[in-house]
Amino acid sequence: MPGSEAPGAAGDLPRRTFIAVELPAPVRLALAAMAAELARQWPGDGVRWVGEGSLHLTLRFLGDTAPDQVDALRRGLEQIASRHGPFDLHLAEAGAFPNPRRPRVIWVGLADPEGALGRVQREVERLARSLGWEREERAFKPHLTLGRVRPEARPPQSGWSAAVPAAVFRATGISLMGSRLKPTGAEYCRLHCADLAVVSG
Ligand code: 2AM
Repeated sequence: MPGSEAPGAAGDLPRRTFIAVELPAPVRLALAAMAAELARQWPGDGVRWVGEGSLHLTLRFLGDTAPDQVDALRRGLEQIASRHGPFDLHLAEAGAFPNPRRPRVIWVGLADPEGALGRVQREVERLARSLGWEREERAFKPHLTLGRVRPEARPPQSGWSAAVPAAVFRATGISLMGSRLKPTGAEYCRLHCADLAVVSG
């Protein structure tokens, strides 16, 4: 995921997008080490582990997004970011959706001690709805997906666990990301990043 901003979609084709908070490299590296520890416990290739460069915090998955919506999202994210300063997030517990005994998605949760992430996420949700997306019915559960369990895979019989790295990091921007599906997994690129900085006046 790190890297330069990608040019807009060619022509009038929609692209898959989502809104995310990107993670600093040291946090991504620590999470990748945790995922490598878990991978040693899972038999075979039962889990598609997210590459270190692709680890991120999703605020809102949007899916197909038309070029004019991309432009409106950029503007909307800039407005949201001008109302919020940077804020701290803490890595919290590890877990799985739907539950740790039948894991499909393996994740690390985030603590949001100032409640700032929740406030930003609610504004992002409002922006998505103002641009025509349906309401997201699932409650926002801030998490960093480490891996996705393949449908036929079974968890290790002896269980699975790994220590979550102790990390606090500063969220400094909200990014509009593009996602391209490849046989090897999704590839992400940054379409826009709005820097969090309160602008008065
Ligand atoms: P995640 O946040 O649990 O990892 C980009 O695909 C991001 O959007 C992923 O991180 C993914 O889940 C999230 N996402 C949410 N709903 C999705 C969907 N229906 N299809 C693909 N990704 C989705």
